[in-house]
Amino acid sequence: MYLDNAATTPTDPRVLEAMLQYFADSYGNASSMNSFGKDAKEALEESRRKIADFMNADPEELIFTGSATEANNLILKGHAFGAGKRHCHIAVSTIDHDCVLNTVKWLEKQGFRISYLPVDSYGLLRIDPLQKVLEEDVTLVSVVHGNNEIGTVQNIKKIAKMCHENGSFFHTDAVQSFGKLPIDVELIGIDSMTINAHKMYGPKGVGALYIDRTLKITPLIHGGSHEFGKRAGTENIPSIVGFAKAVELREREMDAEGVRLCRLRDRLIRAALEIEDTYLNVHPTKRLPNNVSLRFSHLEGEAIVLDLDAEGIAASSGSACSTKSNDPSHVLLAIGLRPQEARGSLRLSLGKKNSAEEIEFTAQQLAKVVERLRGISPLTHLS
Ligand SMILES: Cc1ncc(COP(=O)(O)O)c(C=O)c1O
Repeated sequence: MYLDNAATTPTDPRVLEAMLQYFADSYGNASSMNSFGKDAKEALEESRRKIADFMNADPEELIFTGSATEANNLILKGHAFGAGKRHCHIAVSTIDHDCVLNTVKWLEKQGFRISYLPVDSYGLLRIDPLQKVLEEDVTLVSVVHGNNEIGTVQNIKKIAKMCHENGSFFHTDAVQSFGKLPIDVELIGIDSMTINAHKMYGPKGVGALYIDRTLKITPLIHGGSHEFGKRAGTENIPSIVGFAKAVELREREMDAEGVRLCRLRDRLIRAALEIEDTYLNVHPTKRLPNNVSLRFSHLEGEAIVLDLDAEGIAASSGSACSTKSNDPSHVLLAIGLRPQEARGSLRLSLGKKNSAEEIEFTAQQLAKVVERLRGISPLTHLS
């Protein structure tokens, strides 16, 4: 039973099917002049158009990358190197993904000016500090749309408007929300946006950066003139075709699936909150349809994950990217939790394979596991 869809999703068989042709038959290089190359180029541009249409962008504004991590690096470093140390000032939310935060920390070490924007106890960006920093010549603001750990969804339209009123560009990491919530880059006023395929039933190892043509960046990877000169390297056609297929399916299925997932999510939350000393980490309404982020007093999230796994339920204690670190999650600390509270967190992220029966089973097992662990936890007896 897979409840870790925020970490990655299973590849949809229809996506896999669409990709196979580009491994087996149409394997040309999209830059080649021959017929194989032309087929690959056609598939590349058709995929670009499909994904760009879904977000209401021009195809020339979409650059394919090897991951969302790379797309975030490209916009942040590309902007910093383009603007230069004297002019560049980047502001990021304290609950952005590690691939944003570690990139700006690296830039900071190189002498670039970086500001960190606080959030409230639900993870919503605090507006006053944003306004303050915008008045200090910030050139680019980056705020994650749907947070990968707690699932809080920001009002990016309002944030983008504030950025533009102060002459700043607005970037958002929409990896967790793209394909779950409608995103129209024109309507919202997004200047650049990071997405990937593997959180929406597409393949791993392919991402994209939407970038408005007014936002100039310096490329990070030099070579051929691929991707409008912004990202050199032979395009990964099978994965890009799979990405576009995943987007096409999301376009058709997202709304109905979202309603179903919200129902399952709310059922799981109601059941979990019946367990004593259990709390919800996320905003009660401004949240992703598939994310359940809880915390349990006197327990370690990792122990719950291991016990659930033994019962056949795959969950996680937070972001998959920071599970190797023993430090409490930076997101949970940023929303004001104490380190011990942050360590007691559990993330259950739902996906289209989950049934109502699975959710009932998970609710029952969760109650059992928590009771059992509390019975043996030294933390229970210390409090
Ligand atoms: C919000 C967010 N941004 C970026 C990433 C990184 O994505 P990728 O695995 O494509 O590098 C993730 C994946 O965990 C994510 O959840």
